[in-house]
Amino acid sequence: MSPQNAPQEHPHLLVPEEERAALEREAADLPHLSLNARRLCDLELLLNGGFAPLSGYLSRKDYECVLESMRLENGALWPIPIVLDVPERAAKSIEKRPRLALRDGDGTPLAVLDVEDVWRADPEREAQCVFGTLDQTHPGVRYLYQETGPFYLSGLLRGIRLPRHADFPEYRRTPGELRERFRAMGWKWVVAFQTRNPMHRAHVELTMRASSENGANILIHPVAGMTKPGDIDHICRVRCYEHVLKHYAPDSVTLALLPLAMRMAGPREALWHALIRKNYGCTHFIVGRDHAGPGVDGRGEPFYDPYAAQDLLKTHQSECGIEMVPFQEMVYAPDEGRYLPVDRTSENTRILRISGTKLRKMLERGEEIPGWFTYPEVAEELRGYSSPKKP
Ligand code: ADX
Ligand code: MG
Repeated sequence: MSPQNAPQEHPHLLVPEEERAALEREAADLPHLSLNARRLCDLELLLNGGFAPLSGYLSRKDYECVLESMRLENGALWPIPIVLDVPERAAKSIEKRPRLALRDGDGTPLAVLDVEDVWRADPEREAQCVFGTLDQTHPGVRYLYQETGPFYLSGLLRGIRLPRHADFPEYRRTPGELRERFRAMGWKWVVAFQTRNPMHRAHVELTMRASSENGANILIHPVAGMTKPGDIDHICRVRCYEHVLKHYAPDSVTLALLPLAMRMAGPREALWHALIRKNYGCTHFIVGRDHAGPGVDGRGEPFYDPYAAQDLLKTHQSECGIEMVPFQEMVYAPDEGRYLPVDRTSENTRILRISGTKLRKMLERGEEIPGWFTYPEVAEELRGYSSPKKP
């Protein structure tokens, strides 16, 4: 594995500065689409290069290849379809004027799309290929059936500007910015940690072990786009991450927010996460137990085997361009006073764990969250979150 943070600029889809004003003027007179949160997330990562090597929404051919084989038509690995879905009315009007402005919710133009392909979505086939199920208790499947427009568009995409974020500008960094930052700090090896949850001690343990085993610095790279419905919002999570950062050695770790709309696609999603972190200049990527897992299906069975994501990444390791750091489930061994991967415990080792569901219940009941599970400052943030303060 070679370091990814070479000094050259990372590819992105924003037009050069000197062409921006003209494209923006043109966009003002074009028919437009206002993007919802999910479509804005996808657009941001297309424009900023987080989805490289994609040079826009997938063409119909690329889309077919991605469903069938997790690859673009040219053979490059890409496991998740990225298309612009639209209502029927929009698809029909495009036949007349195939150039569209893509706007954010405030009407600010972000990009211009020259539509080349328009085709009707087949949610059943897509769900089966990407998620391996048609069960709508799966949030990705539900979104596909209930919130995705029936037509898909693709074509040349030219970016005017990135979507704006009022929250946490200090943690918002593009792939180019993060690569530059790693270079400036002299970080040659960087291990990324994906999460959609607050960080508890098991998560800290994963990052510290990954760091020392690989001689790598750590990027905490939580998703601040869309996660599983019902998750703790990123505002509260960022406060938790800030507390947790103080427990690391100085200058060993940095925090950045990823504007990703997760699909909860388990193994395919884990591979996607790894490719995205390569684009952000990371050399290593942590994949633990049940990475991007959506929980259980309508019959109470897990959608994916907890280690299926690791198996898939292993299969494609040689062409990922980023090295997976796999972990078995981390559990707490109270008699030893430390965390251990569950495969390093013996039958006689007493082990403790608290599941996400159990944690939610404990917080609802106002129960004390034990210090072996999470830092007290994090427990305090979560208490404040689950019981909003009365006015
Ligand atoms: S998600 O993106 O995978 O849905 P989550 O926050 O639940 O986010 O987990 C982040 C990462 O930590 C994933 O790689 C997951 O496999 C890993 N992970 C979380 N908890 C544990 C644990 N107790 N043991 C091992 N890996 C874990
Ligand atoms: Mg999880």
